[in-house]
Amino acid sequence: MDTMMGLKRTDSCSNITKEHDGKEIVLCGWVSRRRDHGGLIFVDLRDRSGLVQVVFSPEVNMEAFRKAEHIRTEFVLAVRGTVSLRKAETINPNMKTGEIEVFGVELRILNSANTPPFYIQDNIDVDEIVRLKYRYLDLRRPEMQRNLLLRHQVTKAMRDFFDGEGFVEIETPMLTKSTPEGARDYLVPSRVNPGKFYALPQSPQIFKQILMISGMERYFQIVRCFRDEDLRADRQPEFTQLDVEMSFIDREDILAMMETMISYLFKKTMNTEISLPMQRLSYREAMDRYGSDKPDTRFGMELIDLSAVCKGSDFKVFETVLTGGGQVKAINVKGYAAIPRRELDGLVNYVATYGAKGLAWMCYTAEGIKSPIAKFFSADILDGITNATNAEEGDLLLFVADKPAVVAAALGQLRLEMARRRDLIDPDKLAFLWVMDFPMFEYDEEAKRYVAMHHPFTSPQDEDMEYLETDPGRIKAKAYDMILNGTEIGGGSIRIYTRDIQEKVFKAIGLTSEEANAKFGFLLEAFEYGTPPHGGIAFGLDRLIMLMAKRSSIRDVIAFPKTQSAADVMSQAPSEVAPRQLKELHIKTSVLAKS
Ligand code: AMO
Ligand code: AMP
Repeated sequence: MDTMMGLKRTDSCSNITKEHDGKEIVLCGWVSRRRDHGGLIFVDLRDRSGLVQVVFSPEVNMEAFRKAEHIRTEFVLAVRGTVSLRKAETINPNMKTGEIEVFGVELRILNSANTPPFYIQDNIDVDEIVRLKYRYLDLRRPEMQRNLLLRHQVTKAMRDFFDGEGFVEIETPMLTKSTPEGARDYLVPSRVNPGKFYALPQSPQIFKQILMISGMERYFQIVRCFRDEDLRADRQPEFTQLDVEMSFIDREDILAMMETMISYLFKKTMNTEISLPMQRLSYREAMDRYGSDKPDTRFGMELIDLSAVCKGSDFKVFETVLTGGGQVKAINVKGYAAIPRRELDGLVNYVATYGAKGLAWMCYTAEGIKSPIAKFFSADILDGITNATNAEEGDLLLFVADKPAVVAAALGQLRLEMARRRDLIDPDKLAFLWVMDFPMFEYDEEAKRYVAMHHPFTSPQDEDMEYLETDPGRIKAKAYDMILNGTEIGGGSIRIYTRDIQEKVFKAIGLTSEEANAKFGFLLEAFEYGTPPHGGIAFGLDRLIMLMAKRSSIRDVIAFPKTQSAADVMSQAPSEVAPRQLKELHIKTSVLAKS
């Protein structure tokens, strides 16, 4: 193998232009492709910047040509050569460097490579497990390099923005105490405190509030968080937040600052303008109109409440639901009256997975309304349905009748599914909105108690404070989520900053004062030493980058992500440890060692 001794890289592959004609340069990189063409060897050389064509010819340099006969894809090369304009007929307009080529004068083979298990190029169709196992090869692919570069540019822009606004980046501990964000904790045993455990932070929530009590006034941090929860395409066990907290502000200040920050990021990194202010919806309105607290507003097809219109019909299913306090709602899938019967039957199964007991439909055809349930409705009711849904010839109405929560889940998901099938979602659109005025608590049927919908440090709205001890279910919170294209990219709230209200909220979620003191005594005490009013937010950095890079999985914007089962298939984590290590940590497992 050759070395680089005496040779210095002068340029990046994709930066060579016509201006370099005749110049001698030194390039380094990987062999993307090698082609033998009757006495000439062509090599597409790739580095982080892109590709350039290098030509080895016996007439230019015999030694380099002979060596080039031995190279294979992904070999690592250093090439000294001369830039030359391509002849008109060999110009490649699809390549940034397509107007030139480099004639190799000296070739050094710095390293060889095994044949990779997949092509190092964009848009490959390869099992993700293979990509993750050979992540170093996957990350050689230009699209993955672009994602990581974008991520770098976004975090750089974030730091610039917050610095400019007087925020200070402060690190908070990773070995800490549990902060409730609704997931299970990752625990770390303490060797020097037998039987005791740290929790990895689900978020820096308590520390950032303590920093406000410390007088830091404006804090941000780009920080790793850990949550042991069921994984999905937009959830990882460890993920990154852009975490923010501010003192002496109200909700409007935070929302305005975050809108400005987001538009700055898009402008700086993608040269995209975002129109401000962002749309706002109350939680109630989002649930009513979209059946979701993170609606995708890139398209319409809103849920229409037909409860009043349908009341009093002969259709037993609807009547039973309505008299039982439920709802009848529908979506209008424009222009899809000709839906195949088989697809309709499939939709019944689709909504069943969200708890709906059935799905009724009406097709508005040239011959009138086709529907198994139309016969149960008077002409008045049918008119009412037609008017309320703006149904026209060619339209398809899909109805669900049930408890409001089931109607929202089933029709909300069906709305998304039909939009995908009908191709109604413009992938280039950026639909931002705030969802706000969330309920403070939701009732957990399993635990038989209220739980905080955001987290228990969120302030109830002023006018609802009086219900803390009498009727927690009706309280709204000073909480807000930022939604982009149907994904929750950030969430935050104005916080409680007095001990008595914090104690009441702990009580409302079923913590005794002993439990509250054991878990959060230090925070309650800190509240009594001059706590400024404060509030903040945290964005899911991975999700934001995923949407900016137009990817459907956050794994594509994380260098070394984990699989659905929280494993790293490259390094094989998690793994067993030596009995000696467990002993030192005072841990016995009930899992039998494999024999
Ligand atoms: P929250 O729990 O809403 O709020 O989290 C903030 C944002 O983090 C992202 N996120 C995730 N991203 C990837 N994988 C996960 N498992 C995951 N979980 C959450 C989401 C979410 O909007 N301390 C509060 C913030 C505050 O009140 O200031 C908090 O953590 O995009
Ligand atoms: P049934 O009378 O149960 O045969 O239902 C008649 C039609 O109403 C079928 O198309 C069912 O799928 C539909 N249906 C049944 N239950 C519901 C419901 N809860 N919401 C909407 N449609 C329903």
